[in-house]
Amino acid sequence: MATQWTPESWRSKPARQMPEYPDPEHIKSVEQMLSKYPPLVFAGEARSLHAELARVAAGKAFLLQGGDCAESFAEFSANTIRDTFRVLLQMAVILTFGAALPVIKVGRMAGQFAKPRSEPTESRDGLALPSYRGDMVNAMEFEPDARRPDPERLLKVYNQSSATLNLLRAFSKGGLADLNQVGRWTLDFVKGNPAAERYAEFAGRIAEALDFMRACGLTPESVPQIHETSFYTSHEALLLNYEEVLSRVDSLTGDWYACSAHFLWIGDRTRNLDGAHIEYLRGIRNPVGVKIGPDASPDEVIRLCDALNPENDPGRLTLIIRMGATKIADALPGLIRAVEREGRSVVWSSDPMHGNTIKASNGYKTRNFGAILQEVREFFRIHREEGTHPGGVHFEMTGADVTECTGGVQEITEARLADRYHTHCDPRMNASQSLELAFLIAEALKDERTRSRERSIAEATRALTGSCPR
Ligand code: PEP
Ligand code: CO
Repeated sequence: MATQWTPESWRSKPARQMPEYPDPEHIKSVEQMLSKYPPLVFAGEARSLHAELARVAAGKAFLLQGGDCAESFAEFSANTIRDTFRVLLQMAVILTFGAALPVIKVGRMAGQFAKPRSEPTESRDGLALPSYRGDMVNAMEFEPDARRPDPERLLKVYNQSSATLNLLRAFSKGGLADLNQVGRWTLDFVKGNPAAERYAEFAGRIAEALDFMRACGLTPESVPQIHETSFYTSHEALLLNYEEVLSRVDSLTGDWYACSAHFLWIGDRTRNLDGAHIEYLRGIRNPVGVKIGPDASPDEVIRLCDALNPENDPGRLTLIIRMGATKIADALPGLIRAVEREGRSVVWSSDPMHGNTIKASNGYKTRNFGAILQEVREFFRIHREEGTHPGGVHFEMTGADVTECTGGVQEITEARLADRYHTHCDPRMNASQSLELAFLIAEALKDERTRSRERSIAEATRALTGSCPR
Protein backbone atom coordinates (compact mmCIF):
# COMPACT_ATOMS: atom_id res chain seq x y z
CA MET A 1 0.00 0.00 0.00
CA ALA A 2 2.95 2.30 0.53
CA THR A 3 3.52 2.58 -3.22
CA GLN A 4 2.96 5.84 -5.05
CA TRP A 5 -0.72 6.53 -5.84
CA THR A 6 -1.82 7.98 -9.16
CA PRO A 7 -5.33 8.05 -10.68
CA GLU A 8 -4.24 5.12 -12.88
CA SER A 9 -2.27 3.10 -10.29
CA TRP A 10 -5.33 0.80 -9.92
CA ARG A 11 -4.45 -0.59 -13.36
CA SER A 12 -1.57 -2.65 -11.91
CA LYS A 13 -3.93 -4.45 -9.46
CA PRO A 14 -6.48 -7.20 -10.08
CA ALA A 15 -9.81 -5.55 -10.92
CA ARG A 16 -13.03 -7.46 -10.27
CA GLN A 17 -16.37 -6.85 -11.96
CA MET A 18 -15.08 -4.62 -14.77
CA PRO A 19 -16.20 -5.24 -18.36
CA GLU A 20 -13.84 -6.40 -21.08
CA TYR A 21 -14.25 -4.12 -24.06
CA PRO A 22 -13.83 -5.90 -27.40
CA ASP A 23 -12.09 -2.90 -29.02
CA PRO A 24 -9.26 -1.45 -26.85
CA GLU A 25 -8.77 1.54 -29.17
CA HIS A 26 -12.42 2.53 -28.88
CA ILE A 27 -12.47 2.58 -25.07
CA LYS A 28 -9.17 4.45 -25.03
CA SER A 29 -10.51 7.20 -27.27
CA VAL A 30 -13.61 7.58 -25.06
CA GLU A 31 -11.42 7.81 -21.95
CA GLN A 32 -9.32 10.48 -23.62
CA MET A 33 -12.41 12.47 -24.49
CA LEU A 34 -13.78 12.24 -20.95
CA SER A 35 -10.49 13.29 -19.43
CA LYS A 36 -10.95 16.70 -21.09
CA TYR A 37 -14.56 17.16 -19.98
CA PRO A 38 -15.37 19.47 -17.06
CA PRO A 39 -15.66 17.91 -13.60
CA LEU A 40 -19.24 17.23 -12.47
CA VAL A 41 -18.61 18.29 -8.87
CA PHE A 42 -15.81 20.29 -7.38
CA ALA A 43 -13.47 19.60 -4.48
CA GLY A 44 -14.90 22.26 -2.16
CA GLU A 45 -18.30 20.54 -2.26
CA ALA A 46 -16.75 17.15 -1.43
CA ARG A 47 -14.97 18.81 1.50
CA SER A 48 -18.28 20.24 2.80
CA LEU A 49 -19.79 16.76 2.73
CA HIS A 50 -16.69 15.43 4.48
CA ALA A 51 -17.19 18.00 7.26
CA GLU A 52 -20.87 17.08 7.56
CA LEU A 53 -19.98 13.39 7.79
CA ALA A 54 -17.48 14.21 10.53
CA ARG A 55 -20.48 15.53 12.48
CA VAL A 56 -22.23 12.21 11.84
CA ALA A 57 -19.17 10.32 13.11
CA ALA A 58 -19.33 12.45 16.27
CA GLY A 59 -22.99 11.49 16.81
CA LYS A 60 -24.28 14.98 16.01
CA ALA A 61 -25.98 14.36 12.66
CA PHE A 62 -27.55 11.58 10.60
CA LEU A 63 -26.81 10.42 7.05
CA LEU A 64 -29.66 9.67 4.64
CA GLN A 65 -28.43 8.10 1.41
CA GLY A 66 -30.85 6.75 -1.17
CA GLY A 67 -31.97 6.42 -4.75
CA ASP A 68 -32.09 3.91 -7.57
CA CYS A 69 -30.31 0.59 -7.49
CA ALA A 70 -29.36 1.43 -11.07
CA GLU A 71 -30.23 4.59 -12.96
CA SER A 72 -31.19 3.89 -16.54
CA PHE A 73 -31.26 5.67 -19.86
CA ALA A 74 -34.90 4.65 -20.39
CA GLU A 75 -36.23 6.14 -17.15
CA PHE A 76 -34.37 9.43 -17.52
CA SER A 77 -36.80 12.31 -17.10
CA ALA A 78 -37.28 15.45 -15.04
CA ASN A 79 -40.29 13.91 -13.31
CA THR A 80 -38.38 10.81 -12.19
CA ILE A 81 -35.59 12.94 -10.76
CA ARG A 82 -38.02 15.35 -9.10
CA ASP A 83 -40.12 12.59 -7.51
CA THR A 84 -37.14 10.71 -6.04
CA PHE A 85 -35.70 14.00 -4.78
CA ARG A 86 -39.03 14.90 -3.17
CA VAL A 87 -39.35 11.57 -1.37
CA LEU A 88 -35.79 11.94 -0.06
CA LEU A 89 -36.67 15.43 1.18
CA GLN A 90 -39.78 14.09 2.89
CA MET A 91 -37.76 11.37 4.59
CA ALA A 92 -35.22 13.99 5.68
CA VAL A 93 -37.96 16.21 7.13
CA ILE A 94 -39.42 13.29 9.07
CA LEU A 95 -35.99 12.47 10.45
CA THR A 96 -34.97 16.06 11.22
CA PHE A 97 -38.25 17.02 12.83
CA GLY A 98 -38.84 13.67 14.51
CA ALA A 99 -35.36 13.30 15.93
CA ALA A 100 -34.17 16.93 16.15
CA LEU A 101 -30.95 15.96 14.40
CA PRO A 102 -29.47 17.51 11.24
CA VAL A 103 -29.84 15.14 8.29
CA ILE A 104 -27.19 14.96 5.56
CA LYS A 105 -28.85 14.11 2.25
CA VAL A 106 -26.95 12.09 -0.34
CA GLY A 107 -28.59 10.70 -3.50
CA ARG A 108 -27.71 7.45 -5.23
CA MET A 109 -28.21 9.63 -8.27
CA ALA A 110 -26.38 11.34 -11.14
CA GLY A 111 -23.88 8.52 -11.73
CA GLN A 112 -25.27 5.24 -10.32
CA PHE A 113 -25.25 3.25 -13.58
CA ALA A 114 -22.84 0.28 -13.21
CA LYS A 115 -23.63 -2.96 -11.39
CA PRO A 116 -21.56 -5.79 -9.97
CA ARG A 117 -23.11 -9.18 -10.79
CA SER A 118 -22.88 -12.54 -9.06
CA GLU A 119 -22.55 -14.36 -12.41
CA PRO A 120 -20.45 -13.14 -15.38
CA THR A 121 -22.88 -14.74 -17.83
CA GLU A 122 -26.59 -15.40 -18.08
CA SER A 123 -27.99 -18.47 -19.82
CA ARG A 124 -31.40 -18.89 -21.43
CA ASP A 125 -32.46 -21.90 -23.48
CA GLY A 126 -28.88 -23.07 -23.88
CA LEU A 127 -27.57 -19.63 -24.96
CA ALA A 128 -25.01 -17.96 -22.65
CA LEU A 129 -24.46 -14.19 -22.94
CA PRO A 130 -22.55 -11.69 -20.77
CA SER A 131 -24.65 -10.55 -17.80
CA TYR A 132 -26.29 -7.13 -17.91
CA ARG A 133 -24.01 -4.81 -15.89
CA GLY A 134 -26.01 -1.62 -15.92
CA ASP A 135 -26.63 0.92 -18.69
CA MET A 136 -23.08 2.20 -18.26
CA VAL A 137 -21.80 -1.10 -19.70
CA ASN A 138 -24.37 -2.84 -21.89
CA ALA A 139 -28.13 -3.17 -22.55
CA MET A 140 -30.63 -5.36 -20.75
CA GLU A 141 -32.14 -7.15 -23.80
CA PHE A 142 -31.02 -10.75 -24.02
CA GLU A 143 -29.29 -10.43 -27.40
CA PRO A 144 -25.61 -10.74 -28.31
CA ASP A 145 -25.35 -7.15 -29.62
CA ALA A 146 -27.13 -5.65 -26.64
CA ARG A 147 -24.98 -7.44 -24.11
CA ARG A 148 -21.66 -6.46 -25.72
CA PRO A 149 -19.92 -3.78 -23.58
CA ASP A 150 -20.08 -0.47 -25.45
CA PRO A 151 -17.64 2.37 -24.58
CA GLU A 152 -20.02 5.04 -25.96
CA ARG A 153 -22.21 4.38 -22.92
CA LEU A 154 -19.65 6.12 -20.69
CA LEU A 155 -20.26 9.35 -22.59
CA LYS A 156 -24.00 8.94 -22.24
CA VAL A 157 -23.59 8.37 -18.49
CA TYR A 158 -21.50 11.53 -18.19
CA ASN A 159 -24.12 13.56 -20.05
CA GLN A 160 -27.10 12.14 -18.16
CA SER A 161 -25.30 12.61 -14.83
CA SER A 162 -24.50 16.18 -15.73
CA ALA A 163 -28.13 16.98 -16.60
CA THR A 164 -29.40 15.19 -13.49
CA LEU A 165 -26.99 17.07 -11.28
CA ASN A 166 -27.98 20.34 -12.89
CA LEU A 167 -31.63 19.70 -12.02
CA LEU A 168 -30.80 18.54 -8.49
CA ARG A 169 -28.83 21.73 -7.90
CA ALA A 170 -31.77 23.78 -9.19
CA PHE A 171 -34.25 21.85 -7.03
CA SER A 172 -32.18 22.14 -3.86
CA LYS A 173 -31.33 25.83 -4.20
CA GLY A 174 -34.12 27.15 -6.40
CA GLY A 175 -37.20 26.84 -4.21
CA LEU A 176 -38.51 23.25 -4.51
CA ALA A 177 -36.86 22.38 -1.19
CA ASP A 178 -38.44 25.37 0.59
CA LEU A 179 -39.70 24.23 3.98
CA ASN A 180 -42.84 26.31 3.41
CA GLN A 181 -43.69 23.74 0.72
CA VAL A 182 -43.34 20.57 2.80
CA GLY A 183 -47.09 19.97 2.69
CA ARG A 184 -46.98 19.92 -1.10
CA TRP A 185 -44.26 17.33 -1.53
CA THR A 186 -46.53 14.30 -1.16
CA LEU A 187 -46.97 12.50 -4.45
CA ASP A 188 -50.55 11.96 -5.57
CA PHE A 189 -50.48 8.17 -5.54
CA VAL A 190 -49.39 8.10 -1.89
CA LYS A 191 -52.11 10.45 -0.67
CA GLY A 192 -54.60 8.87 1.70
CA ASN A 193 -52.39 6.05 2.94
CA PRO A 194 -51.44 6.06 6.66
CA ALA A 195 -47.81 7.10 6.14
CA ALA A 196 -48.90 10.08 4.04
CA GLU A 197 -51.52 11.07 6.63
CA ARG A 198 -48.89 10.97 9.33
CA TYR A 199 -46.66 13.04 7.10
CA ALA A 200 -49.45 15.61 6.57
CA GLU A 201 -49.73 15.94 10.35
CA PHE A 202 -45.96 16.57 10.51
CA ALA A 203 -46.19 19.12 7.70
CA GLY A 204 -48.88 20.97 9.69
CA ARG A 205 -46.64 21.16 12.74
CA ILE A 206 -43.73 22.39 10.63
CA ALA A 207 -45.96 25.09 9.12
CA GLU A 208 -46.87 26.23 12.65
CA ALA A 209 -43.21 26.31 13.66
CA LEU A 210 -42.40 28.38 10.55
CA ASP A 211 -45.23 30.82 11.34
CA PHE A 212 -43.79 31.22 14.81
CA MET A 213 -40.30 31.78 13.41
CA ARG A 214 -41.61 34.32 10.90
CA ALA A 215 -43.32 36.20 13.74
CA CYS A 216 -39.94 36.31 15.49
CA GLY A 217 -38.34 37.80 12.36
CA LEU A 218 -36.68 34.57 11.11
CA THR A 219 -37.53 34.50 7.40
CA PRO A 220 -36.08 32.69 4.37
CA GLU A 221 -34.15 35.90 3.66
CA SER A 222 -32.45 35.88 7.06
CA VAL A 223 -32.24 32.07 7.40
CA PRO A 224 -31.44 30.56 3.96
CA GLN A 225 -31.82 27.00 5.32
CA ILE A 226 -35.61 27.55 5.27
CA HIS A 227 -35.58 28.12 1.52
CA GLU A 228 -32.81 25.83 0.31
CA THR A 229 -30.96 22.69 1.23
CA SER A 230 -27.68 20.91 0.56
CA PHE A 231 -27.94 17.78 -1.52
CA TYR A 232 -24.99 15.61 -2.47
CA THR A 233 -24.53 12.85 -5.06
CA SER A 234 -22.95 9.41 -4.82
CA HIS A 235 -22.52 6.15 -6.68
CA GLU A 236 -20.61 2.89 -6.56
CA ALA A 237 -17.11 3.40 -7.98
CA LEU A 238 -17.16 0.29 -10.14
CA LEU A 239 -15.79 1.35 -13.52
CA LEU A 240 -12.42 2.68 -12.44
CA ASN A 241 -11.46 3.85 -15.93
CA TYR A 242 -14.39 6.31 -15.77
CA GLU A 243 -13.43 7.45 -12.26
CA GLU A 244 -9.78 7.79 -13.29
CA VAL A 245 -10.46 10.16 -16.16
CA LEU A 246 -12.82 12.27 -14.06
CA SER A 247 -10.24 12.64 -11.25
CA ARG A 248 -8.85 16.14 -10.93
CA VAL A 249 -6.24 17.93 -8.80
CA ASP A 250 -7.83 20.54 -6.55
CA SER A 251 -6.08 23.82 -7.27
CA LEU A 252 -6.46 25.00 -3.66
CA THR A 253 -4.91 22.01 -1.89
CA GLY A 254 -3.07 20.09 -4.61
CA ASP A 255 -5.01 16.94 -3.62
CA TRP A 256 -6.71 14.53 -6.03
CA TYR A 257 -10.50 14.34 -5.98
CA ALA A 258 -12.93 12.11 -7.82
CA CYS A 259 -15.08 14.65 -9.63
CA SER A 260 -17.84 12.33 -10.87
CA ALA A 261 -19.72 12.63 -7.51
CA HIS A 262 -19.25 13.98 -4.01
CA PHE A 263 -19.15 10.55 -2.36
CA LEU A 264 -18.04 7.21 -3.82
CA TRP A 265 -18.38 3.78 -2.33
CA ILE A 266 -17.13 0.34 -3.26
CA GLY A 267 -19.24 -2.78 -3.07
CA ASP A 268 -19.10 -5.92 -0.99
CA ARG A 269 -17.73 -7.77 -4.04
CA THR A 270 -14.89 -5.39 -4.90
CA ARG A 271 -13.47 -4.45 -1.50
CA ASN A 272 -10.62 -7.02 -1.55
CA LEU A 273 -7.59 -5.37 0.07
CA ASP A 274 -5.13 -6.17 -2.72
CA GLY A 275 -7.54 -5.12 -5.46
CA ALA A 276 -7.91 -2.25 -7.88
CA HIS A 277 -10.97 -0.70 -6.24
CA ILE A 278 -9.28 -0.16 -2.87
CA GLU A 279 -6.24 1.16 -4.71
CA TYR A 280 -8.25 3.83 -6.52
CA LEU A 281 -10.33 4.83 -3.50
CA ARG A 282 -7.37 5.22 -1.15
CA GLY A 283 -5.87 8.07 -3.20
CA ILE A 284 -8.83 10.39 -3.66
CA ARG A 285 -9.71 12.84 -0.90
CA ASN A 286 -13.52 12.64 -1.18
CA PRO A 287 -15.42 11.03 1.65
CA VAL A 288 -15.75 7.34 0.74
CA GLY A 289 -17.75 4.27 1.75
CA VAL A 290 -17.34 0.50 1.78
CA LYS A 291 -20.15 -2.04 1.83
CA ILE A 292 -19.70 -4.64 4.54
CA GLY A 293 -21.48 -7.99 4.24
CA PRO A 294 -21.98 -10.67 6.91
CA ASP A 295 -18.72 -12.46 6.09
CA ALA A 296 -16.37 -9.55 6.83
CA SER A 297 -14.12 -10.29 9.81
CA PRO A 298 -13.22 -7.67 12.46
CA ASP A 299 -9.60 -7.88 11.31
CA GLU A 300 -10.59 -7.25 7.70
CA VAL A 301 -12.60 -4.19 8.72
CA ILE A 302 -9.64 -2.75 10.62
CA ARG A 303 -7.43 -3.33 7.59
CA LEU A 304 -9.99 -1.53 5.42
CA CYS A 305 -9.77 1.41 7.85
CA ASP A 306 -5.95 1.27 7.58
CA ALA A 307 -6.10 1.28 3.80
CA LEU A 308 -8.79 3.91 3.30
CA ASN A 309 -8.40 6.13 6.34
CA PRO A 310 -4.80 5.85 7.59
CA GLU A 311 -5.01 9.27 9.23
CA ASN A 312 -8.19 8.28 11.10
CA ASP A 313 -9.88 11.38 9.79
CA PRO A 314 -13.52 11.67 11.03
CA GLY A 315 -16.03 11.69 8.16
CA ARG A 316 -13.62 10.21 5.64
CA LEU A 317 -14.88 6.62 5.88
CA THR A 318 -18.43 5.26 6.04
CA LEU A 319 -18.97 1.56 6.68
CA ILE A 320 -22.22 0.58 5.00
CA ILE A 321 -23.50 -2.52 6.78
CA ARG A 322 -25.60 -4.87 4.59
CA MET A 323 -25.88 -8.16 6.39
CA GLY A 324 -29.49 -9.30 6.24
CA ALA A 325 -32.14 -9.22 8.97
CA THR A 326 -31.23 -12.67 10.28
CA LYS A 327 -27.45 -12.25 10.24
CA ILE A 328 -26.80 -8.77 11.58
CA ALA A 329 -27.20 -9.69 15.26
CA ASP A 330 -24.35 -12.22 15.02
CA ALA A 331 -22.06 -10.32 12.69
CA LEU A 332 -22.20 -6.62 13.59
CA PRO A 333 -21.31 -6.44 17.32
CA GLY A 334 -17.83 -7.95 16.77
CA LEU A 335 -17.08 -5.36 14.08
CA ILE A 336 -18.21 -2.45 16.26
CA ARG A 337 -16.11 -3.71 19.18
CA ALA A 338 -13.00 -4.04 17.02
CA VAL A 339 -13.43 -0.53 15.58
CA GLU A 340 -13.99 0.91 19.09
CA ARG A 341 -11.08 -1.02 20.57
CA GLU A 342 -8.75 0.27 17.85
CA GLY A 343 -10.07 3.81 18.26
CA ARG A 344 -11.09 4.16 14.60
CA SER A 345 -13.44 6.91 13.55
CA VAL A 346 -16.11 5.70 11.13
CA VAL A 347 -19.67 6.53 10.14
CA TRP A 348 -21.86 3.47 10.68
CA SER A 349 -24.61 3.29 8.09
CA SER A 350 -27.23 0.58 7.53
CA ASP A 351 -28.12 -0.74 4.07
CA PRO A 352 -31.07 -3.02 4.89
CA MET A 353 -31.67 -3.85 1.22
CA HIS A 354 -28.82 -5.96 -0.13
CA GLY A 355 -28.78 -8.67 2.55
CA ASN A 356 -32.52 -9.22 2.17
CA THR A 357 -32.95 -9.93 -1.53
CA ILE A 358 -35.01 -13.03 -2.28
CA LYS A 359 -36.66 -14.69 -5.26
CA ALA A 360 -40.47 -14.69 -5.12
CA SER A 361 -42.30 -17.87 -6.06
CA ASN A 362 -43.20 -16.27 -9.42
CA GLY A 363 -39.52 -15.60 -10.20
CA TYR A 364 -39.37 -11.87 -9.34
CA LYS A 365 -36.33 -10.66 -7.41
CA THR A 366 -37.85 -8.92 -4.41
CA ARG A 367 -37.37 -7.83 -0.81
CA ASN A 368 -39.86 -8.05 1.97
CA PHE A 369 -40.53 -4.74 3.65
CA GLY A 370 -40.78 -6.50 7.02
CA ALA A 371 -37.22 -7.84 6.65
CA ILE A 372 -35.97 -4.37 5.69
CA LEU A 373 -37.59 -2.87 8.82
CA GLN A 374 -36.21 -5.69 10.92
CA GLU A 375 -32.62 -5.13 9.80
CA VAL A 376 -32.88 -1.39 10.55
CA ARG A 377 -34.34 -2.11 14.00
CA GLU A 378 -31.54 -4.55 14.73
CA PHE A 379 -28.95 -2.02 13.56
CA PHE A 380 -30.28 0.54 16.05
CA ARG A 381 -30.59 -2.00 18.85
CA ILE A 382 -27.00 -3.21 18.43
CA HIS A 383 -25.63 0.33 18.43
CA ARG A 384 -27.65 1.12 21.54
CA GLU A 385 -26.15 -1.91 23.29
CA GLU A 386 -22.63 -1.09 22.14
CA GLY A 387 -22.99 2.59 23.05
CA THR A 388 -22.17 3.75 19.49
CA HIS A 389 -24.02 6.07 17.10
CA PRO A 390 -26.17 4.50 14.37
CA GLY A 391 -25.02 7.17 11.94
CA GLY A 392 -27.10 6.65 8.85
CA VAL A 393 -29.09 4.60 6.38
CA HIS A 394 -28.58 3.64 2.74
CA PHE A 395 -31.63 2.69 0.66
CA GLU A 396 -32.73 1.69 -2.79
CA MET A 397 -35.90 3.68 -3.32
CA THR A 398 -37.73 5.71 -5.90
CA GLY A 399 -40.45 8.34 -6.07
CA ALA A 400 -42.16 6.25 -8.75
CA ASP A 401 -45.24 4.21 -7.88
CA VAL A 402 -43.58 0.84 -8.28
CA THR A 403 -44.41 -2.60 -6.86
CA GLU A 404 -40.98 -4.14 -6.39
CA CYS A 405 -40.73 -4.87 -2.62
CA THR A 406 -43.49 -6.86 -0.94
CA GLY A 407 -45.35 -5.67 2.19
CA GLY A 408 -45.76 -2.21 3.69
CA VAL A 409 -49.08 -0.47 4.35
CA GLN A 410 -50.14 -1.06 0.74
CA GLU A 411 -49.65 -4.78 1.48
CA ILE A 412 -47.99 -5.52 -1.85
CA THR A 413 -48.20 -9.25 -2.42
CA GLU A 414 -45.98 -11.45 -4.60
CA ALA A 415 -48.84 -11.66 -7.08
CA ARG A 416 -48.87 -7.84 -7.39
CA LEU A 417 -45.12 -7.52 -8.08
CA ALA A 418 -45.86 -7.78 -11.81
CA ASP A 419 -48.11 -4.67 -11.74
CA ARG A 420 -45.32 -2.08 -11.85
CA TYR A 421 -41.96 -3.79 -11.64
CA HIS A 422 -39.62 -1.38 -13.44
CA THR A 423 -36.21 -1.65 -11.80
CA HIS A 424 -33.15 -2.25 -13.95
CA CYS A 425 -31.53 -4.27 -11.20
CA ASP A 426 -32.62 -4.65 -7.57
CA PRO A 427 -36.14 -4.04 -6.15
CA ARG A 428 -36.64 -0.55 -4.68
CA MET A 429 -38.97 0.75 -2.01
CA ASN A 430 -41.70 3.02 -3.36
CA ALA A 431 -42.63 6.40 -1.87
CA SER A 432 -45.10 4.96 0.61
CA GLN A 433 -42.67 2.34 1.93
CA SER A 434 -39.92 4.97 2.13
CA LEU A 435 -42.05 7.28 4.31
CA GLU A 436 -43.07 4.39 6.54
CA LEU A 437 -39.44 3.50 7.08
CA ALA A 438 -38.48 7.12 7.79
CA PHE A 439 -41.05 7.24 10.61
CA LEU A 440 -39.60 4.11 12.15
CA ILE A 441 -36.07 5.53 12.02
CA ALA A 442 -37.20 8.87 13.46
CA GLU A 443 -38.61 7.04 16.46
CA ALA A 444 -35.46 4.98 16.92
CA LEU A 445 -33.32 8.13 16.71
CA LYS A 446 -35.51 9.98 19.18
CA ASP A 447 -35.16 7.06 21.55
CA GLU A 448 -31.38 7.10 21.11
CA ARG A 449 -31.24 10.81 21.91
CA THR A 450 -33.43 10.49 24.99
CA ARG A 451 -31.24 7.70 26.28
CA SER A 452 -28.02 9.58 25.62
CA ARG A 453 -29.45 12.69 27.36
CA GLU A 454 -30.42 10.54 30.33
CA ARG A 455 -26.93 9.02 30.36
CA SER A 456 -25.30 12.49 30.39
CA ILE A 457 -27.59 13.66 33.20
CA ALA A 458 -26.80 10.51 35.20
CA GLU A 459 -23.07 10.98 34.61
CA ALA A 460 -23.21 14.66 35.59
CA THR A 461 -25.19 13.80 38.72
CA ARG A 462 -22.69 11.10 39.64
CA ALA A 463 -19.78 13.48 39.08
CA LEU A 464 -21.46 16.16 41.20
CA THR A 465 -22.42 13.90 44.08
CA GLY A 466 -19.03 12.17 43.90
CA SER A 467 -17.24 15.49 44.30
CA CYS A 468 -19.50 16.75 47.11
CA PRO A 469 -17.79 16.87 50.49
CA ARG A 470 -19.77 14.80 52.98
C1 PEP B 1 -25.61 -1.87 -4.55
O1 PEP B 1 -25.50 -1.01 -3.65
O2 PEP B 1 -26.40 -1.75 -5.50
C2 PEP B 1 -24.82 -3.14 -4.44
C3 PEP B 1 -24.59 -3.90 -5.47
O3 PEP B 1 -24.46 -3.38 -3.20
P1 PEP B 1 -23.52 -4.50 -2.52
O4 PEP B 1 -22.12 -4.20 -2.94
O5 PEP B 1 -23.74 -4.23 -1.07
O6 PEP B 1 -24.03 -5.84 -2.95
CO1 CO C 1 -28.68 -2.85 -5.58
